[in-house]
Amino acid sequence: PEAVVEAAPPVAVAVLQPRADSEVSGMVTFTETADGVVVTADIARLAPGLHGIHLHALGDCSSEDFKSTGGHFNPTDAPHGAPTDEIRHAGDFGNIEIGDDGAGHLELGTTMLTVTDGPNTVLGRAVILHEGADDLESQPTGAAGGRIACGVVMLEGQAMEEASEPMEGSEVDG
Ligand code: CU
Ligand code: ZN
Repeated sequence: PEAVVEAAPPVAVAVLQPRADSEVSGMVTFTETADGVVVTADIARLAPGLHGIHLHALGDCSSEDFKSTGGHFNPTDAPHGAPTDEIRHAGDFGNIEIGDDGAGHLELGTTMLTVTDGPNTVLGRAVILHEGADDLESQPTGAAGGRIACGVVMLEGQAMEEASEPMEGSEVDG
């Protein structure tokens, strides 16, 4: 009989970079499963409270205010909503709750996104973390305030490669 080789589930990651006036750091992971994509976010060094977190359409964190990422990823042309709403942006992840220690963790599942290539892929888009809370109803953004951190979503292997490249101007000694 032929051996069945099961491919590892595709995993994508976004490493968040802070806006110039912030020291927030974090990572968001997308793991494709038989039931959809599991999204996990781990954030540190952020003000306590609720902060909106979304997948935005464009994987471009180049502008200072991160507006270069465009709006919430919305392949179904739906209104903004909560991650528990059936009708919502595919990129609506709601809020992450940050504790007094400045850290927070979020985990949710969605069938509106894929890691593998296709119209709903997370690859080449960006995760945005907001200064304020997403009210889960204001259109079209949830009124979550400024964009405080941004990370381009890429395949895990590719992200590791980028991280291992020496920083420009950094010295390598022991
Ligand atoms: Cu957003
Ligand atoms: Zn939205």
